[in-house]
Amino acid sequence: MKDRNAVIWTRLGAQPVKMGTLVVTDKEARFSYESDYDKTGLRGLGLVYPPDVFTSTNVRQRTEYFDFHPPIKSLVPSREERNFQRALLLKYLEKINVKPEPGFDTDWNILIHAGHGAIGHIDVFESDEAANQWYSTPSKKGLVELDDKFGFSLKEFMTWFDGDAELLIDILGPTPTVGGAIPKLPLSIDRNGWDGRIGLPTRFGDTGRTDILLKLENSAQYPGIIELETLGLDIHRAAGFDVPRYWPVRVKDLNALAIERFDRAENGSTVFMESIYSVLASGNDQITNHYSTTYDHIGAAIDSPAIQIITDRKAAKKHLLDRLILAMLTGNGDLHLENLSIIEQQGKLGFSPVYDPAPMRAYSIHNALFPTGMGFGDYGDEVNGESIGFKNAYKRFRKNLGISKTTMQNSIEHLLTVTDDYAKRIDTLETLPAENKANLIKIHQDIRRKFEGF
Ligand SMILES: Nc1ncnc2c1ncn2[C@@H]1O[C@H](COP(=O)(O)OP(=O)(O)OP(=O)(O)O)[C@@H](O)[C@H]1O
Ligand SMILES: [Mg+2]
Repeated sequence: MKDRNAVIWTRLGAQPVKMGTLVVTDKEARFSYESDYDKTGLRGLGLVYPPDVFTSTNVRQRTEYFDFHPPIKSLVPSREERNFQRALLLKYLEKINVKPEPGFDTDWNILIHAGHGAIGHIDVFESDEAANQWYSTPSKKGLVELDDKFGFSLKEFMTWFDGDAELLIDILGPTPTVGGAIPKLPLSIDRNGWDGRIGLPTRFGDTGRTDILLKLENSAQYPGIIELETLGLDIHRAAGFDVPRYWPVRVKDLNALAIERFDRAENGSTVFMESIYSVLASGNDQITNHYSTTYDHIGAAIDSPAIQIITDRKAAKKHLLDRLILAMLTGNGDLHLENLSIIEQQGKLGFSPVYDPAPMRAYSIHNALFPTGMGFGDYGDEVNGESIGFKNAYKRFRKNLGISKTTMQNSIEHLLTVTDDYAKRIDTLETLPAENKANLIKIHQDIRRKFEGF
């Protein structure tokens, strides 16, 4: 393969600035910061690659899991065949007559065509000219009514993946990349909230609008998921977590959820954001996918003496414990390494507001206490001839985090109170099928009983 070159810019500061250069060879991904980038004082590619430390080229061997440094890989939607975001981008490439080979060539083309204006603070371009051009093109300012035609086209494409995406592409252009398995679009809406009109993601000087992700319900696959995610967000907000604004909406006859993005600042610049997956995988080759380590390991990374990934370590460990307890109580089962991110706000690094707390265990294929490969306190394992049960595992986990028994008990009591009427609330959902409701209620009640015995 011929070496590939791209440039990386960022809008972390008041003006777009070039951060560095990416070269991908047959065997390696090589990233170099611009020689004076560290003088900007801005954060770099990711927390494990601070600009003042990496003064020479940072070389990473390519593996079957990573063709790029993890923060860059986060900009390429997964290769699963039925990934809506990826499918839409492939249609876009087809339309502009770019015909990449499957695999790496396709990932590369997605990265340089849509890896800017995406989630987080990294903008990838084919060249500096492309970057300058993109930054100097104002976004289309207007908001348009989401009409039936658009809704219909969205639904068609989401259902069949191969259908005609012409109308969507005409309206949306190259949609900046967003990860995750659920179909979604990055858009903007009026800053006061959802009013039925949408625009393209903001660029700079856009003050009247706010950026959102619009998550779409594929009712054939996950009937009721929008109502479920809304319920998850409600409960997390009631529990006292920071939760962005959100609006359950209907687009034609499609259920959707508009969620305000926290990786954009009011003045149109971007916020530093990196998933725990990217942080851990940057520092450790054993992390090969977004569920390949334990919650205890996340705690250890928060405590790492070698590198500070979070400003208030103690608060972060408590956050992690509380998130896990509430994920279990709500039947989420999906708190994987990409569903936890770190952002920088007012100069402090901390966990981002909550996103993606949908109680996925309502669907039988996702019905597990946590993603396979993860784990906490050696739960279910044999340790010194003893099999570690639920309560014991929580004790071991909280000890690993350095959290006292009383603190954990108080958390559990609080989260049990917050979910007091959870079963009732599930029962009143209108779009979740009865069988899924019954399963989720049972899952919740079982876990509740376990925590009541603490
Ligand atoms: N409100 C938000 N602000 C900024 N970024 C967000 C927000 N919500 C989600 N994201 C980013 O978008 C990604 C995909 O969103 P989300 O996790 O909600 O999707 P999903 O398809 O349900 O994911 P999964 O595959 O875990 O089920 C997240 O991993 C995160 O990086
Ligand atoms: Mg997710």
